Amino acid sequence: MKFYFSLTRTLHMPKTNYTRITTKTLFEMKSNGEKISMLTAYDFTLAKLIDSAGIDVVLVGDSASNVISGNQTTLPITLDQMIYHATSVVRAVQRALVVVDMPFGTYQADSKEALKSAIRIMKESGAHAVKLEGGAEVKGSIERILQAGIPVIGHLGLTPQSIYKFGTYQVRAKEKSEADQLLKDAELLQDLGCFSVLLEKIPADLACQVSKRLSVPVIGIGAGPYVDGQVLVLHDMLGMTQEFHPRFLRRYLNLQDLIIDAVQRYNKDVKSADFPNENEQY
Ligand code: KIV
Repeated sequence: MKFYFSLTRTLHMPKTNYTRITTKTLFEMKSNGEKISMLTAYDFTLAKLIDSAGIDVVLVGDSASNVISGNQTTLPITLDQMIYHATSVVRAVQRALVVVDMPFGTYQADSKEALKSAIRIMKESGAHAVKLEGGAEVKGSIERILQAGIPVIGHLGLTPQSIYKFGTYQVRAKEKSEADQLLKDAELLQDLGCFSVLLEKIPADLACQVSKRLSVPVIGIGAGPYVDGQVLVLHDMLGMTQEFHPRFLRRYLNLQDLIIDAVQRYNKDVKSADFPNENEQY
């Protein structure tokens, strides 16, 4: 029994002890069969914690628009706001690769504007790569950003910046035509030079096909287990956002209840003049 536990533990340990994760490291992980872990962060304190816990990639996601600012969609967040979040995250991270989402409206109109936006992100925040949504329709922007030496992750499937086109947050690419297009787009992203492709909320079998077909690492969210890595929104997996419960989400904590309980106890202590006591004053 003891042997079994130590064996399973060993099997799940990282195969290599990387001191700094780069785009090259992620390729190595894919070819070694080591899964890539990715989580979102938008601030210094949480970024520091997840980096010290050994997460490989920290994504400064435009989900900050929902999680931090309370917007219904990711569309309203601005380039300045993303750079602000990214700068705080970069200050905290010592080991992980930091990837920043290009916000809606900063790369779709034309490739020159896309390049300018990506350069601002890299220069002002010190991040290591950018992520943007779409396939063939954003080819020109991706090419130009890559030509400037900026690493890019492509994002396909349920791309939240297109929510008004989809009209729903349901699983994408269940129909053959959309699945075929997704496969083509994934290959295009790799051919253009993207160092990774992120797949959101698509059938596991399709994500498996993409992962097998591509030599670049494929990261999934709601895309099943047969991909090269997984990403979740930190606030969701910590149980801070109770109203969001898609099937793919695994909650590792119920932080909402813990926070409410702690705040209620503090509130009670203040009201009853129990806090501060004689040891908590000067
Ligand atoms: O913005 C974000 O958090 C994302 C993840 C859902 C992958 O893009």
